[in-house]
Amino acid sequence: MCGIVGYIGPRNVKDVVVGGLAKLEYRGYDSSGIAAIDDGRIELAKSVGRLSNLEARLEEHPIGGHVAIGHTRWATHGKPSDENAHPHQDCSGRFALVHNGIVENYLSLREELIASGHEFRSETDTEVVVHLIEELYNGDLFQTMIAVGKRIRGAYALVVISKDHPDQIVAVRKASPMIIGLGDGENFVASDIPAVLQYTRDIYVMEDGEMAVLTRDSVECFTLDGEPVAKEVYKVTWDAVSAERGGYPHFMLKEIHEQPKAIRDTLRGRVNPDLGSVTLDELGIDAETVKAMDRIHIVACGTSWHAGLVGKVAIEQLARIPVNVEIASEYRYSNPIATPNTLVIAITQSGETADTLAAMREMKARGLRVLAITNVVGSSAAREADNVIVTWAGPEIAVASTKAYTTQLAALYLLAVHFAQVRGEIGEQAAHDMINALDNLPQVAEAVLDTAPQIHAFAQKYAESKDTFFIGRGIDYAVSLEGALKLKEISYIHAEAYAAGELKHGTLALITEGVPVVAIAMQPDLYEKTVSNIVEVKARGAFVLGLTWVGNEDLAKTVDEVIYLPKTHPTLAPLAAVIPLQLLAYYAAVARGNDVDKPRNLAKSVTVE
Ligand code: F6R
Repeated sequence: MCGIVGYIGPRNVKDVVVGGLAKLEYRGYDSSGIAAIDDGRIELAKSVGRLSNLEARLEEHPIGGHVAIGHTRWATHGKPSDENAHPHQDCSGRFALVHNGIVENYLSLREELIASGHEFRSETDTEVVVHLIEELYNGDLFQTMIAVGKRIRGAYALVVISKDHPDQIVAVRKASPMIIGLGDGENFVASDIPAVLQYTRDIYVMEDGEMAVLTRDSVECFTLDGEPVAKEVYKVTWDAVSAERGGYPHFMLKEIHEQPKAIRDTLRGRVNPDLGSVTLDELGIDAETVKAMDRIHIVACGTSWHAGLVGKVAIEQLARIPVNVEIASEYRYSNPIATPNTLVIAITQSGETADTLAAMREMKARGLRVLAITNVVGSSAAREADNVIVTWAGPEIAVASTKAYTTQLAALYLLAVHFAQVRGEIGEQAAHDMINALDNLPQVAEAVLDTAPQIHAFAQKYAESKDTFFIGRGIDYAVSLEGALKLKEISYIHAEAYAAGELKHGTLALITEGVPVVAIAMQPDLYEKTVSNIVEVKARGAFVLGLTWVGNEDLAKTVDEVIYLPKTHPTLAPLAAVIPLQLLAYYAAVARGNDVDKPRNLAKSVTVE
């Protein structure tokens, strides 16, 4: 977690660094700080809480100079506080350091450094690194960082400046993301591209195990042993404005409304209704491999894991390949049973989620093929996987994932149909119907957005509820889980999702007068059974909001309120059903006065295990 920005050049360093950090606040916002070399000294400002607190501090005590580093923190080791905020400094004040990641052997290093006289000011793992730099410093910052790299274990992106070297920044990347922005007479380093996009579109994506030395006029890259590395410039083509709020009060609402476009972009060129086929040329898995595949393990976290649960149903129903869906942080340590013909699919919006990457690496080390479904082209997941399907959702800024989820579903549906066609598991007519339905998904999403006023009114009424339940059967249950997660993470209302038939085995005890229940009834095959379960909660006094397809007037006889959604193929229905659930979470959070885009305790990209 955490976001890093470094700058060397003629501009106002505070504007570049603080402006860059603002674009990275999705990576954490427990505290922020900046250090600059000004008049031969390192000037430091840091503050607990939002970036605005740091800005206020900088108004009172401005910082100048031409080289600076900054940090926005998501606390791991040590509570959010001024002391624990980065940058950190050594005892002599010669160095300043920012860090994203975890130094795993920090306790033993800390003891060693205290024994040799270093005084610590914070509770962080990071501070050991800056004292280690001081301890090992031999007059050459670059060489010192090579030596430091040999002493620390864990995941890190480190950026360091020294008043002895006011004309350079040294950056080191091991497992935590880092990019370099190439300018003219200036250079940048950051955790992610949006931080530098205002100034440059020429990027070096730092690979795992690389370091760099930046001056105003040069960027040189090396391995962690100091061997030079030749880098290719990656030209960013996406628009900086697309990462802004675009008139919506929150990124989340903007991103919910971007879903028709995001789905269209993800399907573009990949579905051919005329030919009745799916084109996934970029996948790079040949037909023989697809035919030989005997099982699939999907690994992911959070919302991406929920997408995997929908993907399982789609792949099993269409392609008849058995699928396990695993939580990445559990999978890695579960000694999973896989055959040589097992495909591992890692789903990750950011492509930087540490748990998912760890699971991928584990399975790659066992010789298995790993396919990544990710939204970030240059991400670690995309670079490390054998095969990649990119979701074209565009940058997702709100912490609560919305358009990433629906585009992940679109990608999984494409994959399911592709596998089914290659394996001969789907007839011509069924394939045709499915491909037409897929092609129509952007219009479905568009029409679902029209339910927003109705959801808004419901959310206003129930925003003060203590608990909410989401129920559904089959693939509707998979989408209920995502509805409950969304509500919890941004409205802070306790929510649980249940397979509708399971309630009577315990949870029904929690259904009392007026408790809101959201019932998803989008599967014609399971419809009557689902209604029976809705009747059970109604009998205990629940207030039920039902979701069903347009034309199904029957549900209104049982529930208190109905949201009608466009009819689509039942397997694709989660993509329609999830949008009202996203809107429900959004409006409830707004009604409760919560910070929708930056919910408490959460960060967008979870780069620690
Ligand atoms: C919830 C949410 C998280 C992420 C999870 C995985 O709204 O966004 O649950 O889905 O942290 O992130 P990625 O997909 O980037 O691996």
